[in-house]
Amino acid sequence: MRGVGATRRSVDGEPRAALCGMGVCHECRVKVDGRAHVLGCQTLCRDGLSVETMR
Ligand code: FES
Repeated sequence: MRGVGATRRSVDGEPRAALCGMGVCHECRVKVDGRAHVLGCQTLCRDGLSVETMR
């Protein structure tokens, strides 16, 4: 995601971000259209899509 260094925080508060890009690691979890824990790397973009980091 452009300009975003982390998509969520670990339980220890460490920044986490996309790693594998193919749906395996789950490090890219974001909130999409209000649904939490969606894999950002497996989500197709479209106009009006709401994506929020989980910090
Ligand atoms: S980047 Fe690994 S599941 Fe999305």
